[in-house]
Order: sequence, then structure tokens, then C-alpha cells
Amino acid sequence: MADRDFDLLVGPVGCLVPCHQEGPRRGAAMRELPVLRGGAVGVRGDEVVFVGPWKEVAAATAIRRISAPDATVLPGFVDPHTHIPFVGDRAHELALRLRGASYMEIGRAGGGILSTMAAVRAASEDDLLGAARALARRRLAHGVTTFEAKSGYGLDLENELKQLRVLAALAAEGPQTILSTCLAAHFVPPEYRADPDAYVTLVCEAILPAVASAKLARFCDVFCEEGAFTIEQSRRVLEAGRRHGLLPRLHADEIVDTGGAALAAEVGAVSADHLLTASDAGVARMAEAGVCATLLPGTAFYLRKPYAPARRFLDAGVPVAVASDCNPGSCYTANHLMVLTLAVFGMGMLPEEALWASTLNAACALGEGDRLGSLGVGKRADLCLWEVPSYLHLFYPFAENPLGTVVCGGEVVWESC
Ligand code: NIG
Ligand code: FE
Repeated sequence: MADRDFDLLVGPVGCLVPCHQEGPRRGAAMRELPVLRGGAVGVRGDEVVFVGPWKEVAAATAIRRISAPDATVLPGFVDPHTHIPFVGDRAHELALRLRGASYMEIGRAGGGILSTMAAVRAASEDDLLGAARALARRRLAHGVTTFEAKSGYGLDLENELKQLRVLAALAAEGPQTILSTCLAAHFVPPEYRADPDAYVTLVCEAILPAVASAKLARFCDVFCEEGAFTIEQSRRVLEAGRRHGLLPRLHADEIVDTGGAALAAEVGAVSADHLLTASDAGVARMAEAGVCATLLPGTAFYLRKPYAPARRFLDAGVPVAVASDCNPGSCYTANHLMVLTLAVFGMGMLPEEALWASTLNAACALGEGDRLGSLGVGKRADLCLWEVPSYLHLFYPFAENPLGTVVCGGEVVWESC
């Protein structure tokens, strides 16, 4: 081992939590989170090449060393559901909601998603990129090294493409890994209010083909919800996306149980997201089909709704991921650890489950489990040093940000001052 040569050597690490295995962690196994006391992570280029006891590499040469005897090291957080990029301000809607208006009432009255649509359509590509870059930096400062991001505030060909080009530009800048989704079927835009099916046709026959041929997205998403898109319309969108090579994922059973979880199973979605109101039958269908449940406790908290039934998904052996839903209406936060705190204290997950759900399982919910989300040899070197003695201390005390250093692709990209 003494002849090892690293670009970056992190160690000794007080509490090293690799979150590593083949495929997603499920069921009772999610209650166990193996920890290496006095471990080390060695990196060459952007890749992890060593994870193991510090004593095996203590004498190795390295260009850069980070000693972390009092820290906890985890993979960078993977956030598999955000609505970046957006502009605009919906604080007034928060005031309405806190006085009793419902999220969908505000949407039906032309606010909500359509208010952000108006702001995004009016914004230049540069302004949208600037806003997305600033938010991505805030997310990095909370340990998010990978995130999924979507269109869905353009709601026409030109502006859906604009949002996705912004994501491509941001991904090219780095340092975070960004996986893009076309959510043209987020809401029916005002010009199609009288004929929603005609908008679905536009999505299927013009927007999705254009997005796919420009290689601007990996996934196709739909807001399958009463007041947004029906099961039949959602099926049409996801099947059209699939024909163009876009992998299906969906906003399912968020406000009303419309059977979105079962649709996710039927179309072989990579993930079904939200699931606050999913039925037992929907949970069972997802378990059979191996669809990931991506749960977004920050949204339940912010909309003051009952949390998704995480325990039912965990008990059924569904791979569970946790995501932020970072968006200007139903969950506006950059703080990922706060989202995990809500997964634990609100949704009843254990800290161990929440950490699997926000690392390896989140990467699996993006089809990236082989490359991202854990610290194992051959994985991308995305890791966070947290200035706490154990992972449990991320939840005790709460609503703090004890992040020390973020490494993305082998580079130190953020340090606390
Ligand atoms: O995931 N539910 C639909 N879409 C988002 C909210 C988007 C918005 O309100 O701007 C969500 O909650
Ligand atoms: Fe969402």
C-alpha cells in the first residue's frame, strides 16, 4: 500500500460512512448504516480509488491531504427532484396559503405554477442561468453534489427548450452533476385552458421530440394530479417520451390519489415522486415493478399536509429516496439537511434510512447508482466532510449546517469560512 499515490487523500476520518453497495438499499437493511472509524478515502482524478482503514494508506503520497479525525464523511447528497431553474417571487402565495387558501386553488386562479411560468417566459436565458447558478451554489453549500432539475415553467416549445438549455449550460460549468428532465406536462398553460388535450398533443408531438433530438433531457415527467393531468393524459405523455428515448418518472398522488403510483408501475417509471396520498394497492404495484419512491417531506411540511407514508414503502421493500422538490411554490429551500430532518422527524424515517435515501438510493432513482451516491472504488469522488463526530449528530442538534468541506469530482469546491 505504501506505493499508492493519490491526488487527494482524505483521512484519518473519525466517522466514514460510505453508503456503498450494489443497487439500492431496501427494507430492514436500510436501518443499518455501516461506519468505518479511522478510515480514509483516496482519489485519483475524479474517481475514488481507495476506501478503507487509514493505516493502510497513512504513508502514501498525495498531492492534497485533508485530515478529518473529528469529522463525519459521507457521499455528497444526491437530490433526485428539484424544479431548478426558475425566477420570480411567490411570497404573496405563501401569505395566502397561511391564511387558508389551498395550493391548487391558487393554481386554478392563475397563480402557482402559472405565475412562475410568466416570470420564466419573460426572463432572458442569461437571467435564468444566473438565478440557477446562484441556487446551485446555495445547494452546494448544503452538501448537494448532484441534482435532478426540470423544465416545466416554460409550457411552450420555446421556453421549455430555454429552461433545458440553461440546465445544460449549468451542467457544463459544474461543479455539480445535473440530470435534466422535461416536465412540459407540468400544468396546462393559459392558451390551452379550453382544450387541455390539445396541449398534451403539443407536448407529445412537438416538445418531447424536440427536447430528445437536442439531447436536452434524460427523463420525461408529468404532474399527474387532479387539476393538472389525468391518468390517461399522463400515460400519453410518458409513452411519447419513452418513444423518444426519455425515461419516465412522474409526480404521483401528491394532493389526491388518482392512481399515479399504479401508473408508474405500469409504464416502468424509474421513480414515482411525492406519493403523499398513495393507496396500499399503489404501494404494492410499485414494489412488484421495482419503481423507486422518491419522497419529498419538505413539500408536505411547506404545504402543511400529512407526510407520505414512508414506513409503508419501506416495509413493502420499495427502494425509497428522499428529495427536496426545491421550487418557488410548494417547497422553497436550499437546505438539504433540513429536508432530511423532516424525513426523520416528520415522516418517521430513521437517520440511517434518511441517509441511504439521500445518497445511494437517490442516485438509483436517477439511474446513476453505478456512478454516484456512494463512496466505493470506481465511483465519482463526490464527498462531504461534516464537522460532527457521528452521522447521528447531523440530526442532533437540528436546523444547523455543520458542513466543513465539499469535494466534487475530486476537487475541493466549497469550504466553510
Ligand atoms: O412538485 N406539484 C407540482 N409541481 C411542484 C410545485 C411547482 C410549483 O408550485 O411551482 C411540486 O410540488
Ligand atoms: Fe415537483
